[in-house]
This record gives sequence, C-alpha cells and structure tokens, in this order.
Amino acid sequence: MLIDTHCHLDFPEFDPDRDEVIERAREQGVTSIINVGSNILSSRRSLDLSLKYQNVYSVVGIHPHDADSFDKNAEDAILRLAENEKALGIGEIGLDYFKNYSQKDSQLRLFLYQISLAKKLNLPVVIHTRCADQDTLRVLKDTMPIKVLVHCFSSGLEFLEEVLRLGFFVSFTCNITYKKADLLREIVKLVPLERLMLETDAPYLSPEGFRGKRNEPMQVRLLAEFIAKIRGLTFDEVAGRTTQNARDFFGI
Ligand code: NI
Repeated sequence: MLIDTHCHLDFPEFDPDRDEVIERAREQGVTSIINVGSNILSSRRSLDLSLKYQNVYSVVGIHPHDADSFDKNAEDAILRLAENEKALGIGEIGLDYFKNYSQKDSQLRLFLYQISLAKKLNLPVVIHTRCADQDTLRVLKDTMPIKVLVHCFSSGLEFLEEVLRLGFFVSFTCNITYKKADLLREIVKLVPLERLMLETDAPYLSPEGFRGKRNEPMQVRLLAEFIAKIRGLTFDEVAGRTTQNARDFFGI
C-alpha cells in the first residue's frame, strides 16, 4: 500500500485519461492519492476530484507564484474550499524567491494568511520553498505548533537538520533518481523513516528513464523501491512506514 502525497491530477495534462491514471496507480498499489491545488481554480478542481474519486483527497491553497493577485475574494474562496471534509490540508503554500513571479511582500502576506487559515481549521500545511529557506523557517517557527510537510525537498543539509529539529515531515519526489542528484540521495538517507513521505508531483519530475514524459502517481512504487535500495531497507518497510506517516499526518 502506497500513498502519493502530492500530485496535480487537476492539470489539463490529465484531461484525456484521468480515470486510467488513477486506475493504473491503484494497480501498482498506490491506494490513495492526495491532489494539491496551486490556485483557486486548481484547488476547486482538486476538491471536485476528491469528491468524485473515493481514494483521492485534496489539499487546497494558493502557490506563492500567485500571491500578487491574492485579494479578499480569493481569501473567502480558499476558506470555503478548505472547510470541505475532503480537503485534508492547506497547500501548496510558501515562498519562492527563485522565480519571484510575485513580490516578496505579497508572498509573505499570502503565506501568513494561509497558515492562519490552517490553524483556524486545524489542518496541516504542505510547504513549497525555493531559495527562501530562512524566511520560510522564520514564518513557520513563529506559528508553531503547526503540522508541516516540506514538499519536494530540494534544499541542503542545514535546512534538513532544522526542519527535523522542529518536528516537520519531509517528502521526496522522483527527482532523487536523477543522475546528478547525488546530494539529494545522501539527504534521503538521513531522514528518519518516521518523518518521510513519498510523492510524485505529477505531471512533473518523471523518474530517470522516463524524463520528458508526463509523470503519474503510479511511479510512487518506483520511488519506494529506489529509496529501499539506497537505504538498505525492504520495499515493505519503506511503503509501510511512509504510508502510515501520510495517514497520520493527513488523518486518512
Ligand atoms: Ni506541486
């Protein structure tokens, strides 16, 4: 049993064959899928998917890329979506100073609003952070206690240590299979199994051997096998523990 804790099946890339993608995942043992929104429209679609498919759950939120257009209407819309019982968390939220598609101060304002929403509704948060680790940590520290999953971990060792010290969870995608990802592979080995989760971030980040193609939740199996191999564990140990972590974290 596996859980893809982060993918984007609401994206148009999946319009032609969404049913088959979900079925293929199930055949590979990916029994639950958490679909993560990135703006109001995508969060609404994400919630619709989770209402349509019993084994799909949703996380709703506005990505930092869209922070500049955040307004009162968006605030109300995200609150209404988050109140649905199939919305299991707020995400993906955070800070992205790499692309800087939105101003830093609007990113911070949006991040703070969505954290306060998560706390009000007693939901966990799914964090996107890129080239903004210090600000991300500062904001999260100021709002403790809060349940945090750092998605698509791609930072360094120092950030990992801090994140673990604060009690947060960390998820990795299939990008750890890439030839040049030696550092990430070392980091994957350092995360205690009880803090680890698996995700595809599909349609992005297809594993080595499939690069350039659309990724799918079924590849969580390949990811679990890969992590088992580099950590010297069995597939069942990795699958069992990461699935339990996701169940506990999201309350599935
Ligand atoms: Ni994502």
